[in-house]
Amino acid sequence: MTLRTLDTLGSLEGKRVIVRCDLNVPLRDGIITDDGRVRASLPTLNALINAGARVVVCSHLGRPDGAPDPQYSLEPVAQRLSELLGAPVAFARDTVGESATEAVASLEDGGVVVIENLRFNPGETSKDAAERGAFAAELAKLGDVLVSDGFGVVHRKQASVYELAELLPSAAGLLIATELDVLDRLTENPERPYAVVLGGSKVSDKLGVISHLLPRVDRILVGGGMLFTFLKAQGHAVASSLLEEDQLDTVRGYIAEAAERGVELVLPTDVVVAASFSADADHEVAAADAIEQTAFGASGIGLDIGPETAARFAEVIRGSKTVFWNGPMGVFEFPAFAAGTKTVAQALTEVDGLSVVGGGDSAAAVRQLGFSDDRFGHISTGGGASLEFLEGKKLPGLEVLGWA
Ligand code: 3PG
Repeated sequence: MTLRTLDTLGSLEGKRVIVRCDLNVPLRDGIITDDGRVRASLPTLNALINAGARVVVCSHLGRPDGAPDPQYSLEPVAQRLSELLGAPVAFARDTVGESATEAVASLEDGGVVVIENLRFNPGETSKDAAERGAFAAELAKLGDVLVSDGFGVVHRKQASVYELAELLPSAAGLLIATELDVLDRLTENPERPYAVVLGGSKVSDKLGVISHLLPRVDRILVGGGMLFTFLKAQGHAVASSLLEEDQLDTVRGYIAEAAERGVELVLPTDVVVAASFSADADHEVAAADAIEQTAFGASGIGLDIGPETAARFAEVIRGSKTVFWNGPMGVFEFPAFAAGTKTVAQALTEVDGLSVVGGGDSAAAVRQLGFSDDRFGHISTGGGASLEFLEGKKLPGLEVLGWA
């Protein structure tokens, strides 16, 4: 089966179209620090506005506990959306209550309303299918059709992602279609050499993707907090760096499998070790086999890949035709430990082929480090979703739209 796309919904003029977006953006003191997901939702929203639809935008933000919580309100996002669309956007203070019902009833053709955070309602994320179904039925009263476009949430079986798509005529929006187009190119005959760069703090978050990709890629580069579990598995002491002892055997298995399959596993040869986990901590570069021999001894904490490793990673990335990157190389939020992530990001912009930045922290990192989106082949809006896609998992929010 193929994905149902917007054109399968027929004319949308005058129809109430619920658009399930992923507007889960990072906020600091009520200010959006990365509006990438809002911008990524614009093509679909503009297409619907131009088609004369009455657009009802819904999304989650953060992980509130099934009840209203002002710190997770979508109001700042509605304001940003209005600025980006260059048009007024109404905001409803509830999700399926009086405010939402009235705001939707007041919509004119081509008008837009954002309703409040879906996760303020326990039915959205309930483990009980009947509870999710009941909430989806409430949501369904607000629209005639559903356009599902929250790629970042398609791996979640939640009311607005799954049950609502069964209740209303539904189709994928342009963002989901674009994401699948690119991620498909990573799984179906990628141009070679194909390199995957993995970082982020935990190996345990990346197990599925490593085992699924080992038989499919030519090179795997490992940085971020997870690198220390790899170094330890190679027999190196890692001082007080992040370590997942319970993953050591699994990681040893990956190292052996990579060697058997002829996959080049590129591990750091040096790291930046700090006296403590803080932005202004003293730090020095140590060889990967001498992490405990810095001035900080056994209390040193590795917070970035070293310059020799970064240069090697950049060389391998630039020499690849397809590159997927998920997870920062170090604690990029602290400028002293951002160099590895910056070098990798720069190298991705120089790939003569397809470069894809997985969502979440890596997308935030490239933007925070000053790289514009158009320097990469694609920046995915899905963190967990893009990883699960590459793991070959079935994603409920796509299956319900006909994707198989
Ligand atoms: C994400 O940030 O990856 C998506 O918005 C999904 O959010 P969740 O992990 O809270 O379901």
